[in-house]
Amino acid sequence: MRLDKYLSHTGFGSRKEVKQLLKKKIVQVNETVQTKGEFSVHPEKDEVRVDGEVIHYQKFVYVMLHKPAGVLSATEDSRQKTVLDLLPIEMQHHQLFPVGRLDKDTEGLLLLTNDGELAHFLLSPRRHVSKTYYAKVDGLMDEADQRAFEAGITLEDGYECLPAELEIKRVDEEQQQSEVWITIREGKFHQVKRMVVQCGKEVRYLKRLTMGSLVLDENLKKGEYRFLTESEQKSLEEFLPQIEK
Ligand code: URA
Repeated sequence: MRLDKYLSHTGFGSRKEVKQLLKKKIVQVNETVQTKGEFSVHPEKDEVRVDGEVIHYQKFVYVMLHKPAGVLSATEDSRQKTVLDLLPIEMQHHQLFPVGRLDKDTEGLLLLTNDGELAHFLLSPRRHVSKTYYAKVDGLMDEADQRAFEAGITLEDGYECLPAELEIKRVDEEQQQSEVWITIREGKFHQVKRMVVQCGKEVRYLKRLTMGSLVLDENLKKGEYRFLTESEQKSLEEFLPQIEK
């Protein structure tokens, strides 16, 4: 990889900014000062220092975002704000994308990465990665609904959902509202909302709490993000086929 690209990918700015940095003679590769952007480095083998500090190169980046309502789970949109607009400019060169989609009005856990292979496996319908949602529902969810979820709900278009779990956390008879946790192992369009509609009720607030081994960090406020920890990254790798690890 070219040294200027390497520096740009590790957060030292645009090619132009990196050029200025190289001119200052403060970039060393294996203890030799390098000033040429085209100098070739091996990201995993060579030791690169800027101003004496060793740089750690990461091929892939994994970010946990607490998605707020009102932003699209997309990489770009001509009119509306996307989840990538919530990240600072210096994250842009990573070319992150959201792993799957949450509706515009849904909040909660969204993984952003540039690791296409991992995203592919997490989203693969054959892998049945579980996702748990917290929902506020208009209407009283009951044991009959739980049994229907367990048996597999048939959606309005005839699609038969896989068995899912419905945990009733609270029912408010006066307000005719329920709070539930719903765990599904697939990801059809508006799936949770449509499953609840099939029970004769309506989701009025939805938040994703987990995806596979990942759990939304309670310390993240809406719109905030953080990098995954090493153990979170490791736990996600379990979803990759063993042979490809
Ligand atoms: N199910 C939905 O209905 N909406 C989401 O955003 C996610 C799951």
